[in-house]
Formats: sequence, structure tokens, C-alpha cells
Amino acid sequence: MVSRDKSGHDRLDWTATENGMSKPRKVHIKSFGCQMNVYDSHRMADTLAPEGFAETASPEDADLVILNTCHIREKAVEKVYSEIGRIREMKEAAARDGRSMTIAVAGCVAQAEGKEIIRRASAVDLVVGSQNYHRLPEMIARAQRGDKVVDTEFPIEDKFEALAEPRREAIAKRGISAFVTVQEGCDKFCTFCVVPYTRGTEVSRPVEKIVAEVERLADAGVREVTLIGQNVNAYHGLDVDGTSASLGKLLRRLSRVPGILRLRYTTSHPRDMNEDLFAAHAGLPALMPYVHLPVQSGSDGILQAMNRRHTRRDYLQVIERLRAARNDLAFTSDFIVGFPGETEVDFCETLSLIEDVGFAGAYSFMYSARPGTPAADMDDQVPQDEKAERLQRLQAVITRHQRSFNAGFAGRGMDVLLEKPGRLPGQLVGRSPYLQAVQVMAPANLIGSVRRVTVAEVGTNSLFAALADENHARAFAVT
Ligand code: SAH
Ligand code: SF4
Ligand code: F3S
Repeated sequence: MVSRDKSGHDRLDWTATENGMSKPRKVHIKSFGCQMNVYDSHRMADTLAPEGFAETASPEDADLVILNTCHIREKAVEKVYSEIGRIREMKEAAARDGRSMTIAVAGCVAQAEGKEIIRRASAVDLVVGSQNYHRLPEMIARAQRGDKVVDTEFPIEDKFEALAEPRREAIAKRGISAFVTVQEGCDKFCTFCVVPYTRGTEVSRPVEKIVAEVERLADAGVREVTLIGQNVNAYHGLDVDGTSASLGKLLRRLSRVPGILRLRYTTSHPRDMNEDLFAAHAGLPALMPYVHLPVQSGSDGILQAMNRRHTRRDYLQVIERLRAARNDLAFTSDFIVGFPGETEVDFCETLSLIEDVGFAGAYSFMYSARPGTPAADMDDQVPQDEKAERLQRLQAVITRHQRSFNAGFAGRGMDVLLEKPGRLPGQLVGRSPYLQAVQVMAPANLIGSVRRVTVAEVGTNSLFAALADENHARAFAVT
């Protein structure tokens, strides 16, 4: 049901029940791809809440299902279409029960494929590009009138300012660690990558808007904030004094927000690492010593063909500078194997870079040709079996490094942000500065605080530790 509000905009009516009362409708949002999508999904939920939509974890009984999609590799897109197939069956089952279900596709597949999605999957009612989420209420109203609705324009207005602010109860439910998008889009045009096409040009949010959002999060119990962006260290948002602020300056400002104990940022680009950010790592204890710095390849020839605009040496120098700023820094990275033209020699240079840096972990991918990107049309595409073989070899090296990184913590002390109850009674799970899950026997009132622990044992997926603070450990033993 749709009506118009005073301003003439379409508004959604709540479902009328038999006794004439309104009951909220249900929306199920599923995110694929990166953290930017997770953040956007939360903001969509925040925007739909005042329209009468309550979130549900089960798509079967939802009135509206939103798939927030990823276009980065072919597999990611295939996953989306198979998910649409699954939801279509639920929509048909709902129709048999006399209920209607609206299916919306959001995110990067929506942006890249637009109305093609509806042509390929007619069960989809609505396609909304990554910059148009503030228009969702109006689009849903139109879809519920029976129109097929597609909006993938890059609008002039700022979606972040037009989206509803996160609600206190929703923040609390999402946990004590939160993501905040500070920068979106990318102007780098690496030759393999769809992001500049699906997210558009680089835009930074103003400092004061981010500070206000982080203050609101802290007020609702958030203790750790990860600033996110496709190229987060290219951040150059407007500051209150009219100048443009770097990521280092933004981090310095946010470290003063009461209640915020830890700050992180991701994903950064080696070219945008600057003095201000080195200084932030040297001078801000709240900034965690764990940096995700994608390199993609260790071969200069391949880096050039990828248009990464940095060499292997540049990358190693950035790592050196960061380590000089703070000697307990650890790094993770992203790698692509089998980029067009990659030879065994190029690949071995990637392996040797991994040995040189000693990463604490990494994501690695077989190159996937993406329509419309320059690399898709390059000669010398690497055969699938060669890509698979290189991926396996690379992952074996990374796993070895990851294991030795984790093993190095046995018997050592570390600070852990306690996040939630663990699986065993009396146990809490927290995160180390390096995002390792840490299991600790500790009272529940310590959730949300940073505690010193001693690592007793290093497991495959987590560290097991004991509270180092005698008083807490003893108090807990007798309760
Ligand atoms: N902005 C970040 C990366 C964003 S995409 C950066 O500059 O590094 C996340 C990761 O997906 C990339 O780091 C890359 O390793 C991988 N990726 C992107 N496009 C890909 C493609 N066409 N095939 C395989 N992996 C890809
Ligand atoms: Fe893609 Fe390159 Fe931009 Fe990263 S920097 S999002 S890999 S184009
Ligand atoms: Fe995927 Fe879009 Fe993120 S393509 S990785 S969801 S920016």
C-alpha cells in the first residue's frame, strides 16, 4: 500500500492488520563483498526503520529482501544470481500463501548491470545503485505498485547526509566494534578492477559529520571504530576550519572522542601512505598496530601492467617507514595470481616479497577478467590450471607465515578488547590488537573494556588467555 505524504513524496503504509492496527513489515538484508557493503546495509536498515520495516534474519517471511551485492570477481557475481534464484522460490511460496515479497538488488552488481538484472532474473522488482540508497523508500513504494524500478544514477546529492542516522538500539545490537565509511569510490583505475566503475569517483565525508557519527556510536556503547573506504588513506575531507584533513588528522581527532578505545582503518593504498599517517601510528596508542596494505604482486612488470603506480621497492619502503613509526606493527595484504602476462619468474617475485615482509595474513585471489576493465582485453591470459596452482603455492607460504606470527604470542602479554560472551560459561571472547580472537575466562561486566591478558595457548582459530590483572582473575575465581 502506498500513500503520499505532505511533501508529495510517496510513503509506505504499514500493513493493516485485522484489528485495524498497523504492524511493522519485515526486511531481510544480505550483504556480499566488502565492509563498505556491510556499512551500507546498516544504513539502509536505519533508513527503512522509520518507514515501518523491522529487520529479520530469515528471508522466508520477509516482505522485502535486499541483496547488497559484489561485482569484484566473476564468482562473486555468480553467487548473487544463485541467491536470487533461492529468494525467487521463497517469493513464489509467499505468493501461494497470499503474501507478496519485493526483491531488491543493491550494491555493485546493481550499479554495473542495472536493468540487465531484471532481464536476466524477472523475479527482481527493484535495482538500486550504490549511491542511491537514500531514495529507497520512494523506490520501494513504486515497486509495490507493480512497477519495475531501476536507479543507478550517480546523483548530485550526498547519500550519506540523506540517509537516516543509525538508531541507538540498532547500534547496540551490532556490537561494540563498528565500521564507519569515511571515503568512498576510487580514482586509481587499476587495470583489473571494477571498483572505480561501480562506486564512482573518490569522495570524502566532512570531518564534523564523521566525528558526530563516532560520538553517537560511542554513546551507544561502541568502543572500537574501523574507518573504511575503498582507498581510505586517500581521505581528504573538509575540516571545520575550511582546510582539507588527511586520514592521520582525522584519526587524531577521533582518538579524542570519549569512549573510543581503539581505532583502525582499511583498505589503504601504498601510494597514499603519507607523513601524517606515519605520525599517527607513532603517536596514537588507540590506533591499532595492524595495517592491511594490498600489494597484489611482487613483480615490477606486473605492478606496472596493473597500473598500481608503485614499485616493489616503493612498497617495501612504505613498510619500513611504518615499522620505524611503531615497531610492533604487523601487516596483511591482498594478492592476485595469474594476472595477464604473469610468468613463473613474476610469480616467484611475489613469493619472495612475502618472505621479505613476513605478513601476518593475506587474502589471495586468482585473477578474474571483469567486463569493461583494460586487463580483460590483454593478451597472454594465464590458463586456469596455472592460476590455481600458483594460488595454492602462494597460500601455503602465507599460511606458514600466519602460523608463525600467531605462535609468537605464546606466553606473552597483550591487551584484549573484550567483546561478547564466549561459547563456554564464564568465558568471554575478545580481540587482540591484531584482530586475533582471544578466549578468556572473565566476568561479563568486563565486556567493552580493554584488559591485559597472558596468552596460555595458541589454537588454530583463536588464542586462549588468562586475565593478567590479579584482582579480576581472583574475583572471578570465587564467583
Ligand atoms: N582498494 C583496494 C582493493 C579493493 S578490491 C586496493 O587498492 O588494494 C579487494 C581486492 O580484490 C583487491 O585488493 C584485489 O586483490 C582483489 N581483486 C580486485 N579485482 C580483482 C580481479 N579482477 N580479479 C581477482 N581479484 C581481484
Ligand atoms: Fe580497485 Fe585499484 Fe581502486 Fe583498489 S586502488 S579499488 S584495486 S582500482
Ligand atoms: Fe565488491 Fe563493491 Fe566492495 S565490488 S568488494 S562490494 S566495493
